[in-house]
Amino acid sequence: MPNLLLKRSLVCPRDSLIENILQFQKYEFMDLPLDSAERTVRKLFIAGAGQMGSGIAQVAATSGIDVTLFDVRQQSVQSALEKMRWSLGKLHSKGIVAEPADTIMSRVHSVSELDDAADAEIVIEAVSEVASVKRDLFSRLDAICPPTVLFASNTSAIPISHLAQATTREDRFCGMHFFNPVPMLQLVEVVRGRFTSDETIRVAMSLARQMGKEPVLVRRDMTGFIVNRVLGAAIGEAMRLIESGLADAADIDKAMRLGCAWKMGPLETADLAGLDVVLHMYEAMQQSEPNPVLSPPESLKQLVAEGRLGRKSGAGFYEHAKSVPRA
Ligand SMILES: NC(=O)c1ccc[n+]([C@@H]2O[C@H](COP(=O)([O-])OP(=O)(O)OC[C@H]3O[C@@H](n4cnc5c(N)ncnc54)[C@H](O)[C@@H]3O)[C@@H](O)[C@H]2O)c1
Repeated sequence: MPNLLLKRSLVCPRDSLIENILQFQKYEFMDLPLDSAERTVRKLFIAGAGQMGSGIAQVAATSGIDVTLFDVRQQSVQSALEKMRWSLGKLHSKGIVAEPADTIMSRVHSVSELDDAADAEIVIEAVSEVASVKRDLFSRLDAICPPTVLFASNTSAIPISHLAQATTREDRFCGMHFFNPVPMLQLVEVVRGRFTSDETIRVAMSLARQMGKEPVLVRRDMTGFIVNRVLGAAIGEAMRLIESGLADAADIDKAMRLGCAWKMGPLETADLAGLDVVLHMYEAMQQSEPNPVLSPPESLKQLVAEGRLGRKSGAGFYEHAKSVPRA
């Protein structure tokens, strides 16, 4: 810990250094035995049935949790249910998932009204990456759900405290940032907002483990958290290199795979995530903390304006064969 503070002192402006020291001291003395007192969650409400909501629902149901799935678009819910069934069938046939798809899918219920959130123990929000949309949804959920219900947002970049402020339960609100594709990737960033209680963090870490994931605690509410700050810088730089004519997408991705042992290059990752989602992520980060390293590149804006959104639309930085759902 002292070494870390010493290193930080070389790069941080004085005020943020002092703030960091206070934060680290707080956590050094905080009584937070994160591995103890695991609680079993039985009922989850998931708002948003897009790529992430459907993945989270699939993994939760696989781990035995009853899931209620809500989306404003009925079409999203229908495609989510089809995609989950397809993926679970494939995972079961490979012996990766023990129960047949039908058994797991019997734990997933789709609803068209938010009122059903009242019965859940935890609500996970995975709607579009637009702060006003998320805040409006949380404020409505806050009026519906008893105070015991914990709220978690899967936002990629919007500060958790900004979303929590739309509710009357800032202490029972945290980030649970899953990664795409959720059934395949192990990480969940559990993000502490300014007023998140230790108990909320404990339950969120425990829920991530219950779902077979590996949680990492993000101790401060900084836009982009860990992965999107590091990856966002790499993806943005890769796009700016294409704009400058230094190399094309395929060669940049190849260089990062072969030179740095990345499983996927930054542009392949962006196409998989969805270029609209990546653009929203940069915009959200810029709104809360202007930073040229994490600003949206022109080529990204242009592709999104043209409707080239990556794999899901059939084209992005790459041309994709007909979009195939991934297990
Ligand atoms: N795609 C990724 O790689 C990725 C990874 C981690 C986190 N996230 C985050 O997860 C969230 C969802 O991303 P996604 O990729 O699933 O987006 P998506 O566009 O696939 O799905 C978003 C869904 O939200 C629904 N929606 C919009 N407003 C709603 C509302 N008020 N109530 C209920 N549903 C509503 C839409 O109809 C859509 O089905 C975003 O916050 C995103 O930043 C995305």
